[in-house]
Amino acid sequence: MNLKEEIEKLKKEKNAVILAHYYQYPEIQDIADYVGDSLGLSQKAAETDADVIVFAGVHFMAETAKILNPEKKVLLPDLNAGCSLADSCPPEQFGEFIKAHPGHTVITYVNCSAEVKALTDIVCTSSNALKIVESLPKDQPIIFAPDRNLGKYIQKETGRDMVLWDGSCVVHEAFSLDKLLELFKKHPDALIIAHPESEDHILKTANYIGSTAGMINFVKEHPKNKFIVATEVGILHKMKQEVPEAELIPAPTQEDNTCACSECAYMKVNTLQKLHDCLLNETPEVSVPKEIMEKALIPIQRMLDLS
Ligand code: 13P
Ligand code: SF4
Repeated sequence: MNLKEEIEKLKKEKNAVILAHYYQYPEIQDIADYVGDSLGLSQKAAETDADVIVFAGVHFMAETAKILNPEKKVLLPDLNAGCSLADSCPPEQFGEFIKAHPGHTVITYVNCSAEVKALTDIVCTSSNALKIVESLPKDQPIIFAPDRNLGKYIQKETGRDMVLWDGSCVVHEAFSLDKLLELFKKHPDALIIAHPESEDHILKTANYIGSTAGMINFVKEHPKNKFIVATEVGILHKMKQEVPEAELIPAPTQEDNTCACSECAYMKVNTLQKLHDCLLNETPEVSVPKEIMEKALIPIQRMLDLS
């Protein structure tokens, strides 16, 4: 049997479900039961009746699935699948930050640790951040963490009183405005689509700003177009599958002079072989201390109820 057949067999034997993010390698996306953005993945995790969840994504995503399913086994193919945004917000310092801003509602982007979620009032993703911020009374001051770029974008769109944590994503901050403008000169008919973790100067050029699922939907709605895509390059796989006729060009990064693509090194530590091995051996398993799990569930559940 080849690797894919073995994974299918193990999945049935163990009543497992494979959830994958759009930034995973194509062969992982193709074997997954569901591929989605952070919101879609947490909604799927909340409703699954599988005994085992294999999370082909990064650690905070698997942690969220575990918090929603404390009695289930949640596996991550490689525990090194972290996230620079989650790392940029250590829970102790974040606790001090909250103390320094009394009376603020704490909204955290899902890209953070379970400990940070346990200090949060409402979690959000890039799909629902606007809606969640707007669900609060207009005069309610807000702490937004950990992504300063998403925070700044939401602040601009809503005009709300927001204090931002100074975190960022290494992948989305790597896009080069100069190179993007040069590329646009060569393709003036292209639509620029960007993830809100990108910097303000990149977002200002964009025809559409949204989550990974939002970006895919935008391409589907404009199938005959050419797009410059400012997010992790793994998303192109699903876009090509969904809209084969669209022309897709990855946005250029500062460092890169050859392939003009941006990969998340954390997402890319997961491989098909590791996915197979983790399903076979039922390890590495993601665990969260019970007390943190109980506290973190409340703001995650609030987000799901508001979505
Ligand atoms: P999405 O929720 O848009 O898929 O974002 C996840 C992520 O990590 C973006 O860098
Ligand atoms: Fe984290 Fe950025 Fe990778 Fe998304 S792309 S998982 S935000 S480091």
